[in-house]
Amino acid sequence: MSGKSQEPDTIQVDPDYYEERTDLYPDDWQSETTSIGSSIYRGLMENGRRYQTLKTSEYILPSDESMFETYEAGHLLSLVLDMEHKNPLFRAPVGKDAKHILDIGTGSGVWAVDVADMFPEATVRGVDLFPPPVSWMPPNCVLEVDNVVEEWTWRDDFDLIHMRIMIGSFTPEEWAQVYKRCYDHLRPGGWIEQIEATPAISCDHGTIPEDSVLQTWGPNIMSCGARAGRPCDTIDTMTDSLRKAGFVDFHEKNYKWPLGAWPRDQKYKEAGTINFQHWLTGMEGWCMWLLTHFGAPEPWTQEEVRVYVAKMRKELKNPNYHAYQRARRVWARKPFPDEVPKEVKVEE
Ligand SMILES: C[S@@+](CC[C@H](N)C(=O)[O-])C[C@H]1O[C@@H](n2cnc3c(N)ncnc32)[C@H](O)[C@@H]1O
Repeated sequence: MSGKSQEPDTIQVDPDYYEERTDLYPDDWQSETTSIGSSIYRGLMENGRRYQTLKTSEYILPSDESMFETYEAGHLLSLVLDMEHKNPLFRAPVGKDAKHILDIGTGSGVWAVDVADMFPEATVRGVDLFPPPVSWMPPNCVLEVDNVVEEWTWRDDFDLIHMRIMIGSFTPEEWAQVYKRCYDHLRPGGWIEQIEATPAISCDHGTIPEDSVLQTWGPNIMSCGARAGRPCDTIDTMTDSLRKAGFVDFHEKNYKWPLGAWPRDQKYKEAGTINFQHWLTGMEGWCMWLLTHFGAPEPWTQEEVRVYVAKMRKELKNPNYHAYQRARRVWARKPFPDEVPKEVKVEE
């Protein structure tokens, strides 16, 4: 790797944003539930949350309505932060002539559905351990239930393989295997694109006290992930892992995902408001399994987790905290036969 990642500029603070703005954060961020029948749909209930049953080893996050709400918010957040681009869904230079696109760990399926709408000539597949709660899809979108750590049965090579927020999904060995499968199943010249965010909360202006609960969240999730054998530092390891898998022509874009409506700039204010909802609906699901199985000094009870999340929620509502998360998008290409690798290009 030659280029060094550059952090985006400091996000300017909205000087008028000092009150508790509950109007920006409605409490009724709930979705409709779906009527479900088969055992895969029923999943496994633990600590009041529903988990997938397809994979024999557990996956750290629930697959239930509030998690799907969280994924929808994450999708919107990602679109808002790239709203100036004609195609805010991905940055790899894949044209309208693309025939086969894959979204690994599609979650609610929303990215795959949007890409299928934008690329009507392509077949867009989304794959996940749990059936995505989608009632309508464009005819060129296929959502499938499968474990990507198992053998891939798709016959056609892909033009683009996309992954977003797969942090904690795999052991390091599984990651290497998944990247290898991606490489093997892309056509020469085909692209892989991945976006990851760190669970750690940062702030530019020293506004979050050292002894706050918010400061404990990142280290807590990271250490649980390490104990579970599913490292949560994917944002910082993915470029190297992709390089080891043989990809070339690397591009990177670094983001700050504001958390709360504190920024002055309208785009960041909107992103921060959405990310705040993303956290409100997401937090319990993000940490319940990790803390009840791998919490320190011993596994936590579900009640302890709920109290922790309630404290996090309260602090997140503090308008004086200028919190954000680091996120990174990387896109790279499968080389053509006999091609010499080029350098990394980093966008400001
Ligand atoms: C954090 S979610 C992200 C969802 C979606 N990519 C998004 O950005 O909205 C990660 C998804 O990966 C799926 N997943 C985890 N391990 C998987 C595996 N081995 N095979 C297929 N999907 C997997 C999970 O079920 C979950 O829906």
